[in-house]
Amino acid sequence: MPDRPRLVIASGNAGKIREYRDLLAGTGVELVAFDSEVDEAGETYAENARLKAEAASSRSGLPALGDDSGLEVEALGGFPGIRSARLGPTQKERTEELLRRLEGTPRPWKGRFVCVIALATPGGETRTFEGECRGEVVPEWRGEAGFGYDPIFLVPGTGKTFGEMPPEEKRKYSHRAAAARALLESGALQHLSGSIDARGR
Ligand code: IMP
Repeated sequence: MPDRPRLVIASGNAGKIREYRDLLAGTGVELVAFDSEVDEAGETYAENARLKAEAASSRSGLPALGDDSGLEVEALGGFPGIRSARLGPTQKERTEELLRRLEGTPRPWKGRFVCVIALATPGGETRTFEGECRGEVVPEWRGEAGFGYDPIFLVPGTGKTFGEMPPEEKRKYSHRAAAARALLESGALQHLSGSIDARGR
């Protein structure tokens, strides 16, 4: 039986990698995690996703998926956005810092998570796919599932934060799942599997 086609995930974030393994489980590709550790020098999610995917693809010689994501809060003019991973040294401190900045501003603290996925092929073009999830930041931490700001992000109509949802429930609403759906619906991955298969990998 031929090996499954391999797709690199350009990330060192265990929470993200876990979600991609789940989201792409039915595609038949074997996911290989590889942190390209690029400087996130871009000014948009798409630029950063592209930088990560292209670096991982050129270093590995394999197709690679990079993503960039963040939480945008209306009361803070969309902050922290692409800076979501840089608000502090640990996620606990990042969450505390976000809540500190929101203190005293009127609630509800409406916001959205955004995710852009870039798919790069060695020597080929890079395509990007975007997803979002609208919701509300809450001041109390709820639940321990997921990662990042999940325990303070309430999803409208569910009464739950992402931190209170098992993975199969988070994927119904999440920005990453929406971006992954756009990727799958585009046919880019199937096309890729075909071309990888054709090269005998
Ligand atoms: P980056 O995409 O690696 O630059 O990191 C984005 C940062 O946004 C993460 O480190 C998290 O803090 C936050 N983030 C992105 N997606 C999620 C999510 O699904 N749940 C919670 N936090 C997230």
